[in-house]
Amino acid sequence: MKDEISVKAFILDRYGGNDGVRAGEMPEPEIHDDDVLVQIHAASVNPVDLKIRDGKLKLVLPYRLPFVLGNDLAGVVVRVGPTVRRFKPGDEVYARPDKDRIGAFAEFISIREDAVANKPKQLTMDEAASIPLVGLTAWQALIERANLQRGQKVLIHAGSGGVGTFAIQLAKHVGAIVATTTSTANVDWVKDLGADVVIDYRKNDFETVLRDYDVVLDTLGGETLEKSVRVLKPGGRLISISGPPDPAFANEIGAAWIVGLAMRLLSYRIRRSAKRHHVSYSFLFMRPSGDQLREIGSLINSGAIRPVVDRIFPFESTKEALAYVEQGRAKGKVIVKVR
Ligand SMILES: NC(=O)c1ccc[n+]([C@@H]2O[C@H](COP(=O)([O-])OP(=O)(O)OC[C@H]3O[C@@H](n4cnc5c(N)ncnc54)[C@H](OP(=O)(O)O)[C@@H]3O)[C@@H](O)[C@H]2O)c1
Repeated sequence: MKDEISVKAFILDRYGGNDGVRAGEMPEPEIHDDDVLVQIHAASVNPVDLKIRDGKLKLVLPYRLPFVLGNDLAGVVVRVGPTVRRFKPGDEVYARPDKDRIGAFAEFISIREDAVANKPKQLTMDEAASIPLVGLTAWQALIERANLQRGQKVLIHAGSGGVGTFAIQLAKHVGAIVATTTSTANVDWVKDLGADVVIDYRKNDFETVLRDYDVVLDTLGGETLEKSVRVLKPGGRLISISGPPDPAFANEIGAAWIVGLAMRLLSYRIRRSAKRHHVSYSFLFMRPSGDQLREIGSLINSGAIRPVVDRIFPFESTKEALAYVEQGRAKGKVIVKVR
């Protein structure tokens, strides 16, 4: 009989805040034929961890409690399934696991081979864990969906956040002209990241400063989303990762008709406003991709993009790391050092 090995992890017992999270032990994850088992060295915290913890994504991500939180990691492959071709034990990797198989705040995780890539060589494990989710999000928004081109103008909201710090560098690498919003204290270092126009949202309203943009990446939603329509030129693209979700997204996830209807209603106002201004609106929910992480890895290896790490918390302080990100003031990424 196989010995039951247990794995230290941060487990969500019930939805609704840090009180439902506990440090505990789970059985070692099972590996499917096309999985790699990774010993996690570092994980990063994302606002999606908070949304999952608080039960805000139950409709689109119906997890069965209790489960391990965490969506971003770097570590070392310790075992591979029989059909795995790309990886072997000892490989240093990074990944954003599939949405229905999360669990990065733990000592081990099993991940589908296709979601994994080799860790960029010169990054530490902590730095590498900061990349997958935000890097894939920026890539899928700016490269895949917007097809951002040299010389085009892009506005990236919240340039000092996890997504923003990566997206600014990626857009500059493409050769775009980049505007971003941030608060007074962050203006200078966001400029150092490459932003051409930095709008201090405490002093100025971006809507009155910017016009004729080709693309807006909205990370904030609400009023920011509504105003963003007006800085685009006709034919421009407004892509939001903060919502509201639209009917195309409902189709993409095969949502039940009632959920699809809710998404249609929730996004009605912004879709109507976009139409009036002759621009397009779409919601993006990022997906895992080992292939894209390989491309991102080459950009990091070539020096085009560097990780931006705000704070590193020890594994036992994972709940404090969640609380820190919850304050909404992180400058770049927040890391949990697992080993
Ligand atoms: N749909 C998807 O697939 C997807 C993927 C990734 C992220 N997201 C979502 O995108 C959002 C951003 O994620 P993130 O990881 O970048 O978050 P984050 O790192 O926690 O963002 C924190 C940053 O937001 C800035 N900020 C807050 N209010 C702002 C405002 N009004 N204007 C400009 N900047 C502001 C803060 O800068 P100051 O301190 O200067 O205000 C801080 O640096 C979250 O809601 C997340 O859930 C969605």
